[in-house]
Amino acid sequence: MIQTSWSAPSNIALIKYWGKHGIQLPNNPSISFTLDKSRTHTHVKYEPGASALDLQFLFEGKENIEFAKRTISFLNSINRELPFLQTGKLYIESSNTFPHSTGIASSASAMATLALCLCEIHQKVTDSYSDKIAFLKHASHIARLGSGSACRSIYPYLAQWGQTDSIPSSSDEFAIPVSDVHVDFTTYLDAILIIDSDEKKVSSSAGHQLMEKNPLAEIRYKQAHTNLAELLIALKTGDLDTFIEIVELEALMLHALMMTSQPSYILIRPNTLQGIEKIQLFRQETKIPVCFTLDAGPNIHLLYPKKYQTEVEAFISQQLIMLCEDERVIFDCCGEGPISL
Ligand code: DP6
Repeated sequence: MIQTSWSAPSNIALIKYWGKHGIQLPNNPSISFTLDKSRTHTHVKYEPGASALDLQFLFEGKENIEFAKRTISFLNSINRELPFLQTGKLYIESSNTFPHSTGIASSASAMATLALCLCEIHQKVTDSYSDKIAFLKHASHIARLGSGSACRSIYPYLAQWGQTDSIPSSSDEFAIPVSDVHVDFTTYLDAILIIDSDEKKVSSSAGHQLMEKNPLAEIRYKQAHTNLAELLIALKTGDLDTFIEIVELEALMLHALMMTSQPSYILIRPNTLQGIEKIQLFRQETKIPVCFTLDAGPNIHLLYPKKYQTEVEAFISQQLIMLCEDERVIFDCCGEGPISL
């Protein structure tokens, strides 16, 4: 029997991946902060055997048939790359550090941690990775096949995914670490304001698909390359004004794309807009470089440098917490990435 355990964090995109083609290939490059506290822990046991793969899946201690079904079809889709998955018995136990009903997407951390476990078993069976870089690259590739944004959760601090001229080693197949960044960005904080924890009415997969007929699609894909090139310079030099401008523009663009899809849909809520206005006003008045981003939902990720933690936390409790469902805020930060347990 082979056993392995990993913990992998979620990530929040600064340049958004929205629109895909082929087998989980992105229509534009993206970049994200790797989070620290919002994580999935996964333990996998593998017993080699002659008959077809048999899977048992436990989520948060309980057998979960729905997750098992989805996982088995994912495992079958990658069993040429990881041949041990063609036969034997696989036992997966997974849990999240963040509550299920927060609206925080768990697919990125879940797929990243599963990919790391599977690649480690593959290594134990075949000894096929020459070094840690090759191992992580393959794990990122496998994670991408499970959920696009998951491929970025493999690396610490900041990760980039999707071929773009400004990074010669970039690829659509897997993410890479972004290392040439100003030290302040490696300790960035992210307060996740839970505006509404309801399940999204349009899934990310459906949203990606709607990009196929979105009249803004080509302009958007081009803009992502330009924004990424400019953001990379800002990350390197510590240019917070440019960072803020691009990050907020990307968040609003993501939601503009949803609003201009056919059929059109709106995921932000009145309190999301109120929060955005308050954040921008606070920044204007105090000159504290705090900004927001959004994922495919109503919750606000408030991003700020660690040195402003006291002021921003006071701002949250005085002006933002009342906009959150049950006053829920998750205080997360940029982190060191996956951990082998
Ligand atoms: C808005 O990675 O969840 O969070 O590849 O279909 O699993 P699938 O989609 P997913 O899309 C994430 C979209 C986003 C932006 C981002 O993380 O870049």
